[in-house]
Amino acid sequence: MKAIQLFKPTETKDMKICEVEKPQVKEGWVLVKVKAFGLNHSEVILRQFEIENDYITKPIIPGIECVGEVEESLEEDFVKGEKVCALMGGMGRSFNGSYAEYCLIPKTHCFHLNARELSWTSLAAIGETYFTAWGSLFESLNLTKDDHLLVRGATSTVGQASIQIASALGCRVTAMARNDSKFDLLKSLGATDCKIDNKPLSTSIKEEDKPTKILELIGPKTLRDSLFAVKKGGIVCQTGVLGDMFFLENFEPIKEIPNGVFLSSFYSNYPTQETINDIITFLEKKNLKPIISQTFAFEDIGLAHQILEEGKSRGKIVIEM
Ligand SMILES: NC(=O)c1ccc[n+]([C@@H]2O[C@H](COP(=O)([O-])OP(=O)(O)OC[C@H]3O[C@@H](n4cnc5c(N)ncnc54)[C@H](OP(=O)(O)O)[C@@H]3O)[C@@H](O)[C@H]2O)c1
Repeated sequence: MKAIQLFKPTETKDMKICEVEKPQVKEGWVLVKVKAFGLNHSEVILRQFEIENDYITKPIIPGIECVGEVEESLEEDFVKGEKVCALMGGMGRSFNGSYAEYCLIPKTHCFHLNARELSWTSLAAIGETYFTAWGSLFESLNLTKDDHLLVRGATSTVGQASIQIASALGCRVTAMARNDSKFDLLKSLGATDCKIDNKPLSTSIKEEDKPTKILELIGPKTLRDSLFAVKKGGIVCQTGVLGDMFFLENFEPIKEIPNGVFLSSFYSNYPTQETINDIITFLEKKNLKPIISQTFAFEDIGLAHQILEEGKSRGKIVIEM
């Protein structure tokens, strides 16, 4: 089958399709014929440097998510030809991922997409992005319609999906981005107000403008500041690492988490069928379209990665097989 295989840190121009053996189905796993998949920031990180870590199997076929049809399965609950999506659980890191014609997925991370009218491309834009946005908002931030949500790193696809969901719920949503070039897009998704994130928020925000919930997608680079920018009783959810800092050095919780403020996080490694169903039902009920900026053929995946790496994308990039 055709696939992208990485052996070491790789530039986008060197992402070349090669022939590899089609995986053999085994007990507890589902062989999926990949129809489309979305690209993720974490796949850029994997390609650039994460691949050097021992916990990445090498060579690796990247890709942490996909949608497609069951090709073969020994499991009774997965029938040949049915529509499924798959994400996370080590996909594209500890076992081969979705940048291929076929992908072998543990049944724990393969989910039914029963009788949905959405195209493969639209379905491919949901998986990891909406699961992460949904989990951050509802499991970690306990978001309700009365909340004022502030999103840092709002132009990322997770940021955009979060704005769309929170706005549809009825929340006031403040979107923060490093420049104003995508403010029109963020407003069209439902952001109530947009701000440039170029100075500490905690010292510049007025008390009455403090949000009740902050979704932190820049990460440890701005997390300390976010903890002092949320209202007392509020929650900050650490989900993203767009700022390229992965740890908080010398973090002193007693002094750095203000009294009555809560710090949470979200890790998308544990998707469930119930949540996937909830997301699709919510999108359908609210008449929301999954956000897609561009689609590319598999052959052009290097170009697609280049656009993602340079931050030139205005939504999810989807590869159609
Ligand atoms: N916790 C989890 O399980 C989980 C799951 C999924 C994703 N994530 C993380 O969540 C973040 C978003 O993921 P994604 O796939 O949605 O990202 P993405 O779509 O690839 O986001 C890229 C966009 O983010 C903006 N950006 C990049 N660096 C920035 C910075 N330093 N400050 C502000 N904005 C910046 C850029 O837009 P502009 O050029 O317009 O600024 C860029 O176009 C990533 O850090 C990802 O690793 C975590």
